Amino acid sequence: MAEPLWTVGEIAKAIGGETYQDGATAVTGVSIDTRTLQPAECFVAIKGVSLDGHKFVPAAFEAGAACAIVDRDYEDDDPRLIRVGDPFEALQDLGRAARARATKTKIIAVTGSAGKTGTKEALRLALAPSGSVHASAKSYNNHWGVPLTLANMRKDTAFGVFEAGMNHAGELTPLSRMIRPHIAIITTIAPVHLGHFASVEEIADAKAEIFQGLEPGGVAILNRDNEFFGRLATAAKAKDAKIVSFGEAEGSDIRLLDVSLTPEGSAVEADLSGTKLSYRLGAPGRHLVQNSLAVLAAAQAAGADLKEAAAALLQWRAQAGRGEWQVFEGARGKVAVVDEAYNANPASMRAALETLGLVPRDVYCRRIVVLGDMLELGEGAEEFHRGLAQFIDAAGIDSVFACGELMPALIDALPDGKKGGYASAAGELTPLVLDAVRPGDIVMVKGSFGAKLAPLVTELKRHLEDGALN
Ligand SMILES: Nc1ncnc2c1ncn2[C@@H]1O[C@H](COP(=O)(O)OP(=O)(O)O)[C@@H](O)[C@H]1O
Ligand SMILES: [Mg+2]
Repeated sequence: MAEPLWTVGEIAKAIGGETYQDGATAVTGVSIDTRTLQPAECFVAIKGVSLDGHKFVPAAFEAGAACAIVDRDYEDDDPRLIRVGDPFEALQDLGRAARARATKTKIIAVTGSAGKTGTKEALRLALAPSGSVHASAKSYNNHWGVPLTLANMRKDTAFGVFEAGMNHAGELTPLSRMIRPHIAIITTIAPVHLGHFASVEEIADAKAEIFQGLEPGGVAILNRDNEFFGRLATAAKAKDAKIVSFGEAEGSDIRLLDVSLTPEGSAVEADLSGTKLSYRLGAPGRHLVQNSLAVLAAAQAAGADLKEAAAALLQWRAQAGRGEWQVFEGARGKVAVVDEAYNANPASMRAALETLGLVPRDVYCRRIVVLGDMLELGEGAEEFHRGLAQFIDAAGIDSVFACGELMPALIDALPDGKKGGYASAAGELTPLVLDAVRPGDIVMVKGSFGAKLAPLVTELKRHLEDGALN
């Protein structure tokens, strides 16, 4: 049998906890959620904003937890409890211990204003042919997501890929010091969460905190096409990083030579520090082509097989909420739904609109977008919304439906012929959209998470499945 992820004794030692069960007991995973906890995992009782994990300790044992890390004051005498001063700090300690013992693992951290999760998933694909890969689940990129991902990393993993995110200055530094990456990627810098920052420069500086935990001799992978490249490079150099730049700009170490964009994906030719590479991406959009350059830069820096890494990118798929396509067909024709409902900011809105603009008219004759507010943009929010009009025009969008407090700024800037409909909330917009959609349409739905467009996507899909096309 393979060695377990941890033993109870190893966990207790790593977190300085007291335990009364056999230290040799195997632990197969670390969990903070009893709804997904598997038998033989370790449950960590964390106090969240609204819920206290200690309430779920009995449920964890019912689900077969091997042990549970709890506060010293927790009243129960189950021998499977491991008691500590603060379970949340214990999770971080366990994460640090996991990182410390992974002495042969190449560690990659991914941050940026957009594309972190997609790039992380692409790295999972690209590195797999060269060795075992451990990567963050979903978007587990914050103060609990990072240590949880670390705590679940096996010590013999060949590659560890960590998404790291932030909403405020100062958040990435402790995450980076926990991850201690050999390679750090910043996908791009764009106005996101501007509400918490005075300027985009400040955002760039906050992202550059990813270099704080970089290992000696580490590599910084930076987007040369981004206006903050110089600023980020200076920050990386201050940490003695080797800089590998990617992009279309002349002088990029990983340079895009040629690209053919289609709605199904892209064919790319790139020069990787002197090695020419042709490959295909299984998901559409110029923004993903950019991200793919960073992925291959990291694969090269991590010593992975480059040809196999590039070939694996054909498997790249946009995920639910992040550009996933679904096509519905009936007797009267077909409709495509592009689900971008998970989040939105000016950069990803532009990328999604440009991608929609690639769809051939002979397949889908009408381009509809359903847009929700881009949140957390601070004082310039209205201007950012108004500014979408030029990308809507450039992408040949035929009809715009919108909801939210900020979207009227955009609607006002649109020609009358493109005004599809407006409602203050997504729920009220839904019937207008269902009523308008007809065979031959492609419908892209995008907004910030808080704009609550995901239920609209679900209803639209149900409507199309339930005979709207027959
Ligand atoms: N380099 C990029 N520039 C602009 N938008 C991007 C980029 N990469 C991805 N996106 C878009 O950003 C959105 C979020 O992607 P995701 O990978 O989930 O990023 P994150 O984890 O940073 O939130 C998606 O709509 C995606 O298509
Ligand atoms: Mg993410």
